[in-house]
Amino acid sequence: MSGIPHDHYEPKSRFEKWLDARLPIVGLLYSTMTIPTPKNLNWMWIWGIVLAFVMVLQIVTGIVLAMHYTPEVTMAFDSVEHIMRNVNAGWALRYMHTNGASLFFFAVYLHIFRGLYYGSYKSPREVTWIIGMLIYMVMMATGFMGYVLPWGQMSFWGATVITGLFGAIPGIGDVLQTWLLGGPAVDNATLNRFFSLHYLLPFVLVALVVLHIWAFHTTGNGNPTGVEVRRGSKAEVKKDTLPFWPYFVIKDVFALSVILTLFFVVVYFQPNYLGDPVNYVKADPLVTPAHIVPEWYFLPFYGILRAFTADVWVVQIASFLTAGIVDAKFFGVIAMFGAIFVMVLVPWLDTSRVRSGKYRPSFKWWFWLLGLDFVVLAWCGSQPPEGIVPLVSLIASAYWFAYFLIILPLLGVLEKPLPVPATIEEDFDAHYPPKDASASAAE
Ligand code: HEM
Repeated sequence: MSGIPHDHYEPKSRFEKWLDARLPIVGLLYSTMTIPTPKNLNWMWIWGIVLAFVMVLQIVTGIVLAMHYTPEVTMAFDSVEHIMRNVNAGWALRYMHTNGASLFFFAVYLHIFRGLYYGSYKSPREVTWIIGMLIYMVMMATGFMGYVLPWGQMSFWGATVITGLFGAIPGIGDVLQTWLLGGPAVDNATLNRFFSLHYLLPFVLVALVVLHIWAFHTTGNGNPTGVEVRRGSKAEVKKDTLPFWPYFVIKDVFALSVILTLFFVVVYFQPNYLGDPVNYVKADPLVTPAHIVPEWYFLPFYGILRAFTADVWVVQIASFLTAGIVDAKFFGVIAMFGAIFVMVLVPWLDTSRVRSGKYRPSFKWWFWLLGLDFVVLAWCGSQPPEGIVPLVSLIASAYWFAYFLIILPLLGVLEKPLPVPATIEEDFDAHYPPKDASASAAE
């Protein structure tokens, strides 16, 4: 594997040499564990490990849940109750899995916003970023289908609303929606295929995560300064980095323990805090809940979906220009997927030559406004679309697109960045002066 020059595994015993000549897996693990890692990484660089851990937790708890779950419309809801009441520790498994999904999204949003702040997406890490975005989309599909499985009222009606979005695509919509559902409405065929895909997609996720890690091991990790590790010689590399094992492993394990402690407080004491009580009512196709809302982690994009109603002028122009083919519903769908697509393009939309937001005085403000915007959009998505909500949704959605399509490209040209440290070592020493330097300063 190419990358930063560092020590490589030398097989010693006869067995090690024998294996290495046939399957150099120990060498691969050795390279992975000892990879030189920028020594100035801050606490925002822990979320990747948290994500990897939660992914495994979801797969393990999910497989055991699947042993007791029945993907059939007359039994699905009861089989989940059976897991909660009769299966040994079934309640713990289920609550770990549902709250695990929340932790997974919580971590991924911090991981993504970390990337947006520190410009982690910029060259040469565009592929890491794009694979990350694919991961995020697979996570969304998996989360959505998982929520349908307990076959509660929100499972059923959420699935009806979201698959209905595909029905809004002009021309092929109806056929596509029927094909996705396996029939004219959400029913047994839908539940069965969602169960099958919900089981399959996490393994696609694992494959994508392997590619993600391979990609950033090839380029090397970024760091808060955005300055690259010097690669001239091993001695220079050593000045900017520390080996992943033991330094970052210990740091990550510590962070993970704190996060898991909080996670288990939620699992044991407030397991339904993030859930919707309506989903404890069995699905009934004849009774529509008063207010259909997705899980919290979909709310910002749901807010964007609902922001573009028929009375919004951009929607009216789009409808006029396309002779009515693009109506408000379809426009909302385009906006929702577009909101993710502009993030995919961010490596090329951000024109700044300085990578890290730390040294970009104006960028910082716009970035934090984007963070606030994300929360406001989530709030909009959680509210019934009445009163001030439609207007706020529209402004917040407009800002989302403006940030990526207008502000970022312009800032790169207009902003005057602050001086950036010449090396990672310099930045590190500024925070933690080397012992001999501080001793001589004291003298
Ligand atoms: C299951 C989901 C994911 C896992 C397990 C994962 C794992 C990791 C790990 C272990 C790292 C290195 C340590 C760190 O930066 O925290 C990392 C870095 C990175 N991830 Fe992810 N990631 C996931 C999802 C995503 C998503 C959704 C994005 C956004 C598009 C993303 C973008 C990045 C980028 C750009 C880096 C490089 C950061 C740098 O080197 O400065 N990742 N990821």
